[in-house]
Amino acid sequence: MTDRYAVIGNPIEQSKSPLIHTAFAQFTGQDILYTKLLSPLGDFAQTVDAFRAAGGRGMNVTAPFKLDAFAYATDLAPSAQMAGAVNAMKFEGDKVYAENFDGVGLVRDVVHNLGCSLKGRRILILGAGGATRGALLPLLEQAPASLVIVNRTVAKAQALSALAQQHGSLPVQAMGYSDLQDLAFDVVINATSASFASELPPLTRVAFAPGCLAYEMAYGKGLTPFLKLAQQAGVTHLADGVGMLAEQAAEAFAWWRGVRPDTAKVIEQLTIPFI
Ligand code: ATR
Repeated sequence: MTDRYAVIGNPIEQSKSPLIHTAFAQFTGQDILYTKLLSPLGDFAQTVDAFRAAGGRGMNVTAPFKLDAFAYATDLAPSAQMAGAVNAMKFEGDKVYAENFDGVGLVRDVVHNLGCSLKGRRILILGAGGATRGALLPLLEQAPASLVIVNRTVAKAQALSALAQQHGSLPVQAMGYSDLQDLAFDVVINATSASFASELPPLTRVAFAPGCLAYEMAYGKGLTPFLKLAQQAGVTHLADGVGMLAEQAAEAFAWWRGVRPDTAKVIEQLTIPFI
């Protein structure tokens, strides 16, 4: 019997998840149907209830429902607890198991696909919203030399650094952009929402150490102002979040189906070259 899955959001038309999971199902021979589900704002629980009642087995969750899913879940994995948000659910009887694979997807993309080990590296992450929160523990698990969270609103970076501190021994520092001064980093990750407004966080070229990887979490936006700045700083290793998208999807697929699909073809298909 075909098992049903969906990605829920509002809006949802833009989602690449059906394309990705349908490709994964073909690669692995799994019999699933994966669709887009538009939920009215304020009706998340009713929409998910109806999907479950119709036999739905699991869901990905995208904006603006990641916090609703957090509240809806009966069993939150540590990744979801740390992220404070849910991006994947699995339904078993009355149980709603919930995960957040965004952070692990980021790390898999950086380490496996881009071949950039994070061990002993100096990492700078821009922004202190949900995207950064979800990435912190997976990044720390790679044992970097240091991790700095920089944000316009320093208090938010400090709150996230305190949260991360509870889970690891590595010092996580919180800063404002002007505090960065002449500090340089081996990996700089843009986890702000600035690129969606074609804005540049107030970062300078100095932040990019020679040989640095500049990683834009947004995807399909070409050379964003952040990636342009990195390029002007002489960075040759530029990446956007298309690999992170595919890797978090592969984690969810493996969690649901017990088989991990290869992501290379999907990444190739979704990649829009920087020009
Ligand atoms: P998400 O859940 O996608 O992380 P969010 O919680 O709204 O989204 O967080 C957005 C982040 O992008 C915030 O850290 C925000 O900085 P502030 O906390 O100071 O508002 C950051 N951000 C958005 N636009 C930015 C810009 N133009 N420059 C720098 N940071 C920006």
